[in-house]
Amino acid sequence: MSRPGHFKMVLLGESAVGKSSLALRFAKGQYQDHAESTIGAAFLTHTLQIDADTTLKVELWDTAGQERYHSLAPMYYRGAQAALVVYDITNADSLSQAKKWVKELRTANGIDMIIGLAGNKADLATTVNKRKVDAREVAEYADDNQLIFMETSAKRGDNVSEIFMNVARQVAMK
Ligand code: GTP
Ligand code: MG
Repeated sequence: MSRPGHFKMVLLGESAVGKSSLALRFAKGQYQDHAESTIGAAFLTHTLQIDADTTLKVELWDTAGQERYHSLAPMYYRGAQAALVVYDITNADSLSQAKKWVKELRTANGIDMIIGLAGNKADLATTVNKRKVDAREVAEYADDNQLIFMETSAKRGDNVSEIFMNVARQVAMK
C-alpha cells in the first residue's frame, strides 16, 4: 500500500465556529481570545507522526465561513483527501450548516473523502451551560454518514490534535 507523505485537507463551517482557532491550536498549540474573521482563506501546514515510521504533512486550507465566501469553497475542497467540518455546540444553526457542508462534500468528492466533524467550544458546556446541541444525536448522524466525530475546544486544546490525528490516520490507511 502506498504511503503518501502529504495530503490536502480543508476546514469548513459557519463563521465564528472556531475553524481558525482549531487550525492555530493544531499547528502552533496557541489560542487567541479575539481571533479575526478569515478573509478568503488561509493556508498552513503541520507534520504529524502517524506511527514509528510514518510522517504525514497536513496541507490545511482554513476557509472563510462568512456567507459571501461560500462560492469560493470548491476551490479549496476540490482534490482534497480530507475535510474537517466544524460547528459550535452553543449554536444549533451552525450544526445545520455543517450538515450542508457534509452533503456538498459527499456530492463533490464522494465517499472516499475522509471527513471529520468537530463540535467546537466544548469548554462552554462545562463552565457556563450554553450547550444547544446534544452530542449523542450528532454521534448518531456521524455514524450514519461515516464521519469522525469529536467535541473539541480550541480554547482548552481538548481533542484538537486527536481529531486531526484520527483523520490523518484514516488518510494514511487508504
Ligand atoms: P471565520 O473565519 O469567520 O469563518 O470564523 P472561524 O470559524 O475561523 O472562527 P474563529 O476561529 O475566528 O473564532 C471565532 C471566535 O470564537 C473567536 O473569538 C474565538 O476566540 C472563539 N473561539 C474559537 N474556538 C473556541 C473554543 O473552543 N471555545 C471558546 N469558548 N471560544 C472559541
Ligand atoms: Mg477563520
